[in-house]
Amino acid sequence: MEPSLSDILDSYDAAAPLAQAYTIPAAWYTDPRVAHLELQSVFARNWQAVGRLAQLEKPGDYITASVANEPIVVVRGRDGKLRAFYNVCRHHAMTVMNEPCGHAEHMRCPYHGWTYNLEGELRGMTEFEGVKNFERADNGLVPVRVEPWENFVFVNLDPNATSLHDFLGSLVKLVKPLGFGQLKFVERRSYIQNCNWKVYVDNFLDGGYHVPHMHKGLNSVLDYTNYTIENVDRCCVQSSPVSVDAKSEASAAATRKGDRAYYFWQYPNFMLNWYEGYLDTNLVLPLGVDRCEVIFDFYFGDTSEANLPYVRESMGVSELVQQEDIVICEGVQRGLSSRAYQAGRLSVRREAGEHLFHRLLAADLKDSRAAIAR
Ligand code: FES
Ligand SMILES: [Fe+2]
Repeated sequence: MEPSLSDILDSYDAAAPLAQAYTIPAAWYTDPRVAHLELQSVFARNWQAVGRLAQLEKPGDYITASVANEPIVVVRGRDGKLRAFYNVCRHHAMTVMNEPCGHAEHMRCPYHGWTYNLEGELRGMTEFEGVKNFERADNGLVPVRVEPWENFVFVNLDPNATSLHDFLGSLVKLVKPLGFGQLKFVERRSYIQNCNWKVYVDNFLDGGYHVPHMHKGLNSVLDYTNYTIENVDRCCVQSSPVSVDAKSEASAAATRKGDRAYYFWQYPNFMLNWYEGYLDTNLVLPLGVDRCEVIFDFYFGDTSEANLPYVRESMGVSELVQQEDIVICEGVQRGLSSRAYQAGRLSVRREAGEHLFHRLLAADLKDSRAAIAR
């Protein structure tokens, strides 16, 4: 008999200390009921990165996104205020804004031409005279919480959620000295992977465990022995001394600068990889139980013409690492579906970040299961 969703959730022991802990069970990566619950309990309740603040500089600038399968639009109002809305027309539900980003004087639904101002208020309806008991003022776009942090814009579908600042906790002060404000966006690259979104996060959080085995180039510029892993609040900070020597792979050595690399993960699905003068962010979005999209945004300190060869080469090194990670993640997803595997153990030296991830996730899932049961 198929186990119930409750049985599947209860088969993870979140109280076990790292040395005794198991990973979350394989079914959490393969069962569509878990994926469905995650949309409600994880993606619709935690702050989600949806874009870059630089895309929303002027009144009328907007971006669209999908959060927990909900269409969202974020727009800068005439008053300079940032606002977010469900991107759903109050007439017959068409998505109002249909480009990834842009600039608009107002938000006009393409279906029948209803028009909302930048503050989300319904201003104009075509051919709607004579309709009774209809208040224009009650038919604005439905608002969503939005807050910026550093170069990024986040939304939260839960009106009762804590502020973004409190949600990010220690990450705020950890990142401040790295000077993200001086970095300029260069390019976005997106990858569709045949794995559950959590496989990608787990791989990011294995404390460099896989680096010597799977990323020979990257490994040749990191001091693996002195790699550190620290959990704070909803964040895991991994850091490694950068150490280039005669044996380092040329491209990695030329593009991974500074004394230290920092790899931040913020629960549930946002990652930041920082080297001196370089940042890439990874946002992993579920597309189903065994599919996800990973979006890389690349930022550099020096984006001058003269530095473009470095910028290209540097993104090339990240691309190679990402291709190596795709092979791992898709292989792991196949293994998680095997009858031979139920759950695994965690390296105490390396895999504390995964342990944090699994416990935070378990707390959210069990919390919303309790809410559903009430
Ligand atoms: S659905 Fe938007 S105007 Fe009809
Ligand atoms: Fe990797």
